[in-house]
Amino acid sequence: MAFLADEIKRATPDEVLAKSLKRIKPSATIAVTDKARALKAAGRNVIGLGAGEPDFDTPDNIKQAAVRAILAGKASKYTAVDGLAELKSAVARKFKRENGLDYKPSQIIVGTGGKQVLYNALVATLNPGDEVIIPAPYWVSYPEMVLLAGGEPVAVDTRMEDGFKMRPEALERAITPKTKWIIFNSPSNPTGAAYRRAELKAVTDVLARHPHVWVMADDMYEHLVYDDFVFFSPAQLEPRLYERTLTVNGVSKAYCMTGWRIGYGGGPEPLIKAMAMIQSQSTSNPAAVSQWAALEALEGPQDFIAKHNAIFKERRDLCVSMLNQARGIQCPKPEGAFYVYPSCAGTIGRIAPTGKKLATDEDFVTELLEAEGVAVVQGTPFGIGPAFRISYATKTEDLEEACSRIQRFCGNLK
Ligand SMILES: Cc1ncc(COP(=O)(O)O)c(C=O)c1O
Repeated sequence: MAFLADEIKRATPDEVLAKSLKRIKPSATIAVTDKARALKAAGRNVIGLGAGEPDFDTPDNIKQAAVRAILAGKASKYTAVDGLAELKSAVARKFKRENGLDYKPSQIIVGTGGKQVLYNALVATLNPGDEVIIPAPYWVSYPEMVLLAGGEPVAVDTRMEDGFKMRPEALERAITPKTKWIIFNSPSNPTGAAYRRAELKAVTDVLARHPHVWVMADDMYEHLVYDDFVFFSPAQLEPRLYERTLTVNGVSKAYCMTGWRIGYGGGPEPLIKAMAMIQSQSTSNPAAVSQWAALEALEGPQDFIAKHNAIFKERRDLCVSMLNQARGIQCPKPEGAFYVYPSCAGTIGRIAPTGKKLATDEDFVTELLEAEGVAVVQGTPFGIGPAFRISYATKTEDLEEACSRIQRFCGNLK
């Protein structure tokens, strides 16, 4: 049927955007990194403690494997959508070796970062009204990904006095007939909270009693643990959950490969197939060169992980000790990841050097950046405040300087 183009109302840039976008927020962690970058570009001495990535470079053996793959022409073409057969086999071996989990290669998907694997799973499973339980504080992307996929995030608050670990009765109360998933992340971004065996068992005991609830285990920080902490993945500790668990991991954090964008997941075959279908119609395979590099990461020498962890542990101890000496700040000592999540409740109501009264944690981080050039992320977008997140994956001297600036800022509040 013919129509006159003039009769059709032109969409404004705002109208052209999908309604679903109105439900989500941009990442607060990326926003603070951008703000710090802009101040730096303007000549300010800024220390950024916002970015969630190791400051160490990718180990040489991994880089060399990537170069060899390029030169051998192995990186030029599409690979299988769900990952190279060689890499999927290596992932299966990793799950068996490190987590005692049996996954066949057909139960494994490789994606463009763990983020894509999590997102694929949510898109593949959520119907409108489906609920996804997310312990708070949570990684900022979880609720937004759930909303984008059409589901409803349900936060379960944890408390600082419990080390930000979920009480089993709080989980029990949050489960409804509409609950489809729980996203479980230990060690956690943003708090570093890591569940010890008995604490995890208390959670998996609840989940074992609710067979309609599926478990998205985000093990991204598995290798970044300190003191005598021993890591367990949920389906490893509670085999009854195996049939309804997606175990997600990746090379970004432990192998210093955030830029390479490789993550992976293991789970029931029909779920993995559905996730691969979504990937096939959206991004196709993750970059071939990155997959060859990830293969070397998983199968090559692992000794640098312990070396990095010794440095991370020192930095964690430095941060915790110095922040607890800042007026109005209370900082628990977590056992994993590279984050601390101090409360700034004791600074709320005080007056910053600009004359601004601190009413929220966003005010705290904005005034801290302004007064002292230290960039941290406010806690509210992570679900619990007033608090802020510090990533200590940054040079030790910078970290020490940043913590003394925080002490000075807090000490100067009126
Ligand atoms: C808890 C958690 N899960 C998953 C990811 C995703 O990592 P990537 O997409 O780089 O593999 C991140 C990255 O910040 C994270 O903090």
